[in-house]
Amino acid sequence: MNITIRPAQIPDKIIIADFNAAIGRETEHIELNREQLAAGVEALLSDPSKGFYVLAEDGGRVVGQTMVTYEWSDWRNGTFWWIQSVYVHPEFRKSGVFTELFRHIEREAKKRGDVCGLRLYVERHNTRAQQIYERLGMKKTIYDQYETDFVLRR
Ligand SMILES: CC(C)(COP(=O)(O)OP(=O)(O)OC[C@H]1O[C@@H](n2cnc3c(N)ncnc32)[C@H](O)[C@@H]1OP(=O)(O)O)[C@@H](O)C(=O)NCCC(=O)NCCS
Repeated sequence: MNITIRPAQIPDKIIIADFNAAIGRETEHIELNREQLAAGVEALLSDPSKGFYVLAEDGGRVVGQTMVTYEWSDWRNGTFWWIQSVYVHPEFRKSGVFTELFRHIEREAKKRGDVCGLRLYVERHNTRAQQIYERLGMKKTIYDQYETDFVLRR
C-alpha cells in the first residue's frame, strides 16, 4: 500500500458524505440524514474559515479521511485544531492509514505557529479509537463534555 495524503476539494463531497454516514452507523448506530449531511460537507468544503478535510488515498482511491475545525483559546492565544470525522475504510484498517493522516495534521499544525494544540472527542465505548489516539501521543483531558443539540435527536 502506498498512502498519499491530500486536502479535499468540492468533487470529494460524495465520498466524504458516504464516510460520515458510515461513521454514524459504526460508532453510534444512527442513520444520519443524507441531505443534511451532504449540505454540511459541502458547506465546509466551500468555506475554509470553517475548517478543512484531509484525505488518504491508495492508488487514487480515497481510503480514509479526517476533518479539522477550529477553536480559539484565549488562555493560549492560539487556535486548537479539532480532529473530527475520523474514518478509514474497513478494508484498509490496521495498515497505518489513520496514523499517516494524524501525523500529517500534526506536522501542518506545528508548522503554522498559531496553532496551540490538537483536540478531539471520541465516543465513550470506542476503545479502539481511544487506544490509537493514546498511542499517537494524545492525552485524555480533565474535561467531560456537555452539549445542547438543536438538530440531532438521540
Ligand atoms: C479508528 C480508525 C480510524 C483507525 O484507523 P486505522 O487506519 O486502522 O489506524 P492505524 O492503522 O493507523 O492504527 C490502527 C492499528 O493498526 C496498527 N498498525 C499501524 N500500522 C501498522 C502496520 N504497518 N502493520 C500492522 N499494524 C499496524 C496500529 O498499531 C493500531 O493497532 P491496534 O488496532 O492494535 O490499536 C478506524 O478503525 C476507523 O475508521 N474506525 C471507525 C470509525 C471511528 O471509530 N472513528 C473514530 C471516531 S472518534
